[in-house]
Amino acid sequence: MTCSKAPGKIVLFGEHFVVKGAPAIGFAVSKYAKVCVEDGSLNIISKQTGRVEQDSLLYRAVKRLITKVNSIFECSEDVKILIDSEIPIGSGMGSSAALSVALAHAYLTHCNVDFDKKLVNEIAYEAEKEVHSKPSGIDNTLATFGGFLKYRSGVFEKLEVRLGEEVYFLVVNTNLRRQTGKIVEEVLKLYEKYPEILENVYNAASALVEKALKSLEERDYESIGRLMLLNHGLLWTIGVSHEVNDLIVHKLVAKGCLGAKLSGAGKGGIVIGLVKESLVDKIEGELRNEGFEVFRVTPDYEGVRNV
Ligand code: PMV
Repeated sequence: MTCSKAPGKIVLFGEHFVVKGAPAIGFAVSKYAKVCVEDGSLNIISKQTGRVEQDSLLYRAVKRLITKVNSIFECSEDVKILIDSEIPIGSGMGSSAALSVALAHAYLTHCNVDFDKKLVNEIAYEAEKEVHSKPSGIDNTLATFGGFLKYRSGVFEKLEVRLGEEVYFLVVNTNLRRQTGKIVEEVLKLYEKYPEILENVYNAASALVEKALKSLEERDYESIGRLMLLNHGLLWTIGVSHEVNDLIVHKLVAKGCLGAKLSGAGKGGIVIGLVKESLVDKIEGELRNEGFEVFRVTPDYEGVRNV
């Protein structure tokens, strides 16, 4: 049996604005999807949800991935696939991409062929196309290579950013599921209606990302936190926040986080907070006692690997 794991991701700055050409920053996080492959008749079993049905999106995505690999190498398609993921589904943390990347890596290893991460990324992107009709490719790129990425108009740039162990990101899951495509459309409509106003908001978002790049490089955590709040404000302005997102942002800041914002498409999904190591236990414990689903993450700098 061969097993690989790949990290989920978080959008740190610039979501939505990126859709109209502004830059954004994302990073891979220490929550993983693990996939194991062994000989057997094609069967997909998830530890979380049980046997994967043949008419499901996931099954089709796995088939597409296997077919793609077999268009390059000859490899048995009779494989049993076991999935074990700790990444929340449908919350904007790249669960499907992490799974595709881990599967591509585990299957290529199982096939005993020569491959590199670039190929893993390309093959996983094929499966992502089955799940999200027009994926930007950021999620699978982060799951493959790890670390921080700047992306703009489909171009990815790996950032040499390394945060110290003195900070954590807290992730609070609102458990409000939403459809990214629908929210993106609403934002584009708002832009069409008020272009002269929205243009300024988008320019502010671009400037914010440029400033954030500098703050990340310098590990200026106070500034990163402040920029997260500014970013949340801009996302509120374009209508993608939700009262639950706002409530959690306020709670995180009141409890001592350096900054907080919704992350990803918004209208639910997840909220992230940046917190100093000395406060992380306290804030995480308090939120859990208040009934929130909360966990801490640190950046993953390695990307997909065998386990
Ligand atoms: O929540 P997610 O991972 O689906 O994030 C979507 C990010 C957007 O900027 C809203 C859309 C996109 O395609 O970039």
